[in-house]
Amino acid sequence: MKILVSGAFGHIGSFIINDLIKIKKVKKIYLVDNLSNQRFNVLFKIKNKKINFLFGDLTNNNFCKKLPKTNIVIHLASITDAEKSFENRKKITKNNLGCFKNILNYCKRNNSRLVHISSTSIYGPKKGLVKEDETKPVPQSPYAEIKLIEENLLKKQKLIKYITLRFGTISGFSDGMRFHTAVNKFCFNSVMGITIPVWGKALNTYRPYLSLTDANKVFQYIILKNYFPNDIFNILSENKTVSEILRLIKKSRFKVKIKFVNSRILNQDSYKICKKKIENLGIKLNSKISKDIKKTLLMLKIN
Ligand SMILES: NC(=O)c1ccc[n+]([C@@H]2O[C@H](COP(=O)([O-])OP(=O)(O)OC[C@H]3O[C@@H](n4cnc5c(N)ncnc54)[C@H](O)[C@@H]3O)[C@@H](O)[C@H]2O)c1
Repeated sequence: MKILVSGAFGHIGSFIINDLIKIKKVKKIYLVDNLSNQRFNVLFKIKNKKINFLFGDLTNNNFCKKLPKTNIVIHLASITDAEKSFENRKKITKNNLGCFKNILNYCKRNNSRLVHISSTSIYGPKKGLVKEDETKPVPQSPYAEIKLIEENLLKKQKLIKYITLRFGTISGFSDGMRFHTAVNKFCFNSVMGITIPVWGKALNTYRPYLSLTDANKVFQYIILKNYFPNDIFNILSENKTVSEILRLIKKSRFKVKIKFVNSRILNQDSYKICKKKIENLGIKLNSKISKDIKKTLLMLKIN
């Protein structure tokens, strides 16, 4: 089996490739990235004969047409800063939808199956426990709007076998990790003594978080079982409030300084996401965000 991982040098990609290598039936893994996030350091670590790195921009159709044929595509390539997407709507639409459409055509040409990553941020403010099929999404940022467009494009087509995973905010250490999302940013700011900006009501509102370890379990399941049901799944480890996350950082004896601010992306009500549908397949998403926080703080600590 051959796999193509797009956006492989990012937070998620750089974590999962370590375990993809270990799957026996996986003979070749093509990592595709344009290094727009400058994570060259990931390149230094991937010395394995199963792995090939293909440098290029997935919005470039000619580049995509030359990509080698594979059985499965794990599509991670995106500009992923949701908050900045308000200022960058044009750029992020061109990049993310451009990559997605080219990957879709690649899958059609090569009969490849697709793992598509969406986000729980498509839901918007909701009451109660949010399930995949019962809730009409109301995306709250251009980034989330694009994710929903991708989902709908996939639903409409009949040629590709796929699975859409609506990921919660990622926590956990990886070589390509970034620090603009909640847990990581809070850890970074606390270690560096920088104030954490929190929107007034956000302290006690729930959001879904996904440990990289649990995300990895899902990728492993899909590949080992060849599971492409043309369906959508919520993927998260725990629903937590900002207060709870800050408390976990304080437990590791770091001082947490917060400042209340107004931000469009944080201006959402509380929502809790249901993970029953994915767990009904027998995958237990039980990794603890507290463990990821400890590891991230440890990696950032200098003395
Ligand atoms: N990290 C999270 O909290 C989170 C939550 C929900 C969903 N997701 C989704 O999961 C996927 C992966 O997220 P991540 O956190 O690893 O992102 P990331 O920003 O860390 O990595 C994305 C990678 O894509 C590459 N890339 C971007 N545009 C490209 C292009 N045109 N051609 C080739 N490569 C390109 C970047 O260089 C980068 O290495 C994304 O689709 C993201 O929206 C992430």
